[in-house]
Amino acid sequence: MRSLLGVLALCATSLAAQSRRSAHLVHEKRAAEPVGWDKARRLESHRVLPIRVGLTQQNTHRLEELLTSLAHPDSQTYGQHWSAAEVADYFAPSAEAITTVKDWLTDAGIHPDRLRLSPSKGWIDFNATAAEAEDLLKTEYYVYAHPSGKEQISCHSYSVPEHVREHVELIKPTVHFNHRAANSPSGLQKRGVNRLGMPSASTGPKTNGVKVNLPPTLQNCDEFITPDCLRALYNIDYIPLATHKNTYGIVEFTPQAFLAADLDLFFKNFSKTQVGQRPTLVSIDGGVVQTTNQSFDFNGESDLDLEYAMTLTNPQPITLLQAGASFNNWLDAVDASFCTFEGGDDPTQDGIYPDPLPGGFDQPESCGIIKPPNVVSVSYGQDESSVTAAYANRQCAEYGKLGMMGTTVLYSSGDDGVAGGNGVCLNAQGRPSRNGIKFNPGFPVTCPFVTAVGATQVNPGSTVLDPEGACEQVIFSGGGFSNIFPMPSYQAEAVTGFLKNFPPSFNSTQFNNSGTVRAFPDLSANGANYVIGIDGEFELVFGTSCSSPVVGSLITLINDARILIGKGPVGFINPAIYSKKFVNAFHDITTGGNQGCGTPGFNSTVGWDPVTGVGTPNLAKLLPLFLTLP
Ligand SMILES: *[C@@H]1O[C@H](CO)[C@@H](O)[C@H](O)[C@H]1NC(C)=O
Ligand SMILES: *[C@@H]1O[C@H](CO)[C@@H](O)[C@H](O)[C@H]1NC(C)=O
Ligand SMILES: *[C@@H]1O[C@H](CO)[C@@H](O)[C@H](O)[C@H]1NC(C)=O
Ligand SMILES: *[C@@H]1O[C@H](CO)[C@@H](O)[C@H](O)[C@H]1NC(C)=O
Ligand SMILES: *[C@@H]1O[C@H](CO)[C@@H](O)[C@H](O)[C@H]1NC(C)=O
Ligand SMILES: *[C@@H]1O[C@H](CO)[C@@H](O)[C@H](O)[C@H]1NC(C)=O
Repeated sequence: MRSLLGVLALCATSLAAQSRRSAHLVHEKRAAEPVGWDKARRLESHRVLPIRVGLTQQNTHRLEELLTSLAHPDSQTYGQHWSAAEVADYFAPSAEAITTVKDWLTDAGIHPDRLRLSPSKGWIDFNATAAEAEDLLKTEYYVYAHPSGKEQISCHSYSVPEHVREHVELIKPTVHFNHRAANSPSGLQKRGVNRLGMPSASTGPKTNGVKVNLPPTLQNCDEFITPDCLRALYNIDYIPLATHKNTYGIVEFTPQAFLAADLDLFFKNFSKTQVGQRPTLVSIDGGVVQTTNQSFDFNGESDLDLEYAMTLTNPQPITLLQAGASFNNWLDAVDASFCTFEGGDDPTQDGIYPDPLPGGFDQPESCGIIKPPNVVSVSYGQDESSVTAAYANRQCAEYGKLGMMGTTVLYSSGDDGVAGGNGVCLNAQGRPSRNGIKFNPGFPVTCPFVTAVGATQVNPGSTVLDPEGACEQVIFSGGGFSNIFPMPSYQAEAVTGFLKNFPPSFNSTQFNNSGTVRAFPDLSANGANYVIGIDGEFELVFGTSCSSPVVGSLITLINDARILIGKGPVGFINPAIYSKKFVNAFHDITTGGNQGCGTPGFNSTVGWDPVTGVGTPNLAKLLPLFLTLP
C-alpha cells in the first residue's frame, strides 16, 4: 500500500512537472542595436549574473478605466484618489504569478534557497552563471564594448516557457541596453552615452546665443518671453494661499543643476521679492546640485525650470527632485512600492545603488523618501525606440498609479518635431538611422498616463493678444503617434477626428496611421524666446523644456484654489482637458507645423492636432471649471 502511494505520488509529481513545462516563446527582443557599441565576445559561461524577474502586476489592464473614473469631469467619483497602500495592494503580483515563476526556476534546477522574493513581491532575484541563464532563457549573452573602454553585458532577445510568459513582465539583465549609466557626481566621464542631464543629452532647452540687455516689455513678447508675457498669454492672475498644503515638484538629473546666483539675477529683474528664495532640495540617489561645471549645458535646464516655476507660483515652495540617473529612479523615490530592493531597476537603463564604482553613490537606493508632489514637471525624455515595450509599459503603469494617487505628471514632448533626439528618425525596421524616414516619437511622453506638453510661439510681429502658432523657431514641437502604446479612450474622439478631417499627407511608412495608437502632445504652452538668467547673464532659450514647467505652474495654481475650498488636487488631467466641458478653456492653435525627418511634419489645425494638442491653457477659464468638479 505504502509503496503504491509512493509510486502514485511520484507519478503525480512528474505529471505536475510535465504540465509546467511548455515550449519557450520569445519574451523580449531589442528593436535597435545600441549605437556606438560593438559585440566584442561571447560572455564567459562561468560569469555570475544578478538575475531579476519582474513579475506581472495584477490589474494594470484596469488602469485606464480606474483613471477615467477618478479624472473624467462627468464621473461621480472624480477626485476620489487612492492611498499609496491601496494602490500597492491592488496592483501587486498574484500568488499564482509567484508560484508559477518559482516552479519554473526550480524545475530548471535553480535551488529554491537561491531565490529571493522582494518585500514588494514584485521581483524574484537570484544569481546565476551565464551558462545557467542562457539555458533558462534560451539566449546567448555577449559582452559589448564601447570605444571609451566601457563594457556591457546584454543579449539580443530571450525566451521563457509559454505558461510563464503571462506572469513575467520583464527579466534583467537581458536586452535593455545603455542609454543610462549609474550616476556618480564625480564620474561624469564614466560613459559616453546619452545620459539624462548630461550636456550631450539632446533633451535640454536650446539657446540661439542671443544675450538680452534691454528690459523686455509686454509689447515685445514675440522676441522676449518673460513671466509677464505668460501671465498675459494664459490669463494668469492668481496668488497662491494654500502653499503649506500644496506641492509642486520639478525633476532634474545631475549633473544638470541650478545656480543660486542665476535665480537671484532673474528674480532681481522679474520678481524682486523672491531674491534669496531657493527650491527645497530632495536628493535622490545622491543627486547633487553641482557647481563644479558651469555652462549653458550644465545649468540651462535647471535655471529655466526653476526661474519660471518659482516666479509663476510664488510664494509656493518648489520641491526640486534632484535625481541621480533615470526616470525609474525618481519614481522609486516617490513610491516605495515601485522601488525594488537591491535595484530591481535595469542596470543598463537605471542607476543601481549602492554604486560600487569609484565616486559612485555608496548608499542604498532612495526608495519612497517623499510623498509624490501634487504636480511633477519633467523636461527630459528619450526616444521611444530606445526602450523595449515591456520596460516602457512597466514604467508607464507607474505613472498611471501616480495619477490614481492624485499626482499630475507632465513631460515635455521633445524639440525635434516628428523626429527623435538630435533629429534622428527610424528605418523600416524601427531602428534609429540617419537615413530613416519613419517618425521617431519620444518616451515617456507617449505613455498615455502622463500629460505631454508641446511648444507654441508668439508669432513674429504678433502680440500676446494674437493667437499663437506652433513653435517654429530653433525648435519644433515634439508630436505624433506612439509605436508602443494603444490609444487611450480620453483622446479617441479628438484624434480620430483629426485623422478623418485633416488626413495627414503621410502614410503608414512614416507613422502608425491606424487610428488605434496613443497620439501626443496633449496640450501646449509657449516655448520660444524665454529670457532666463544663466551663468551670470540673460539669454534666450527655446524648447518644450520651457512649456512643461509653465503648464505645471498653472495646474499648481488650480490645485491651490481647490485645496482652499477643501477639495483635493486634480491629479491626472487628460480626461478633463479633452472633454467637451473643457474645450473652451484652451486657445486652439491652428497654425504652424512640427517638421522633421525631411518632412514639414504634421499641421496644427482646428481642434486637437499632433503638434500642439488641444491648445494652450486659459487659466481664467480653467480655474472655475476645475473648481466646480468634486
Ligand atoms: C548575489 O551575489 C551577490 C554577491 O555575492 C550577493 O551580494 C547577493 O546577495 C546575491 N543575490 C542573491 C539574490 O542571492
Ligand atoms: C535687468 O535690470 C537691470 C537694472 O534695472 C537692467 O539694466 C537690465 O536691462 C534688466 N535686464 C533684463 C533682461 O530685463
Ligand atoms: C567638469 O569639471 C571637472 C573638474 O573641473 C572636469 O574634470 C570635467 O572634465 C568637467 N566635465 C565636463 C563634462 O565638462
Ligand atoms: C499641411 O497643410 C498643407 C496646406 O494645406 C498641406 O499641403 C499639407 O499636405 C498638410 N500636411 C499634412 C502632413 O497633412
Ligand atoms: C508611402 O509614402 C512613401 C513616401 O512618399 C512612398 O515611397 C511609399 O510608396 C508609400 N507607401 C505606401 C504603403 O503607400
Ligand atoms: C499600428 O498599431 C497597431 C496597434 O498597436 C498595430 O496593430 C499595427 O501593426 C501598427 N501598424 C504599423 C504599420 O506599425
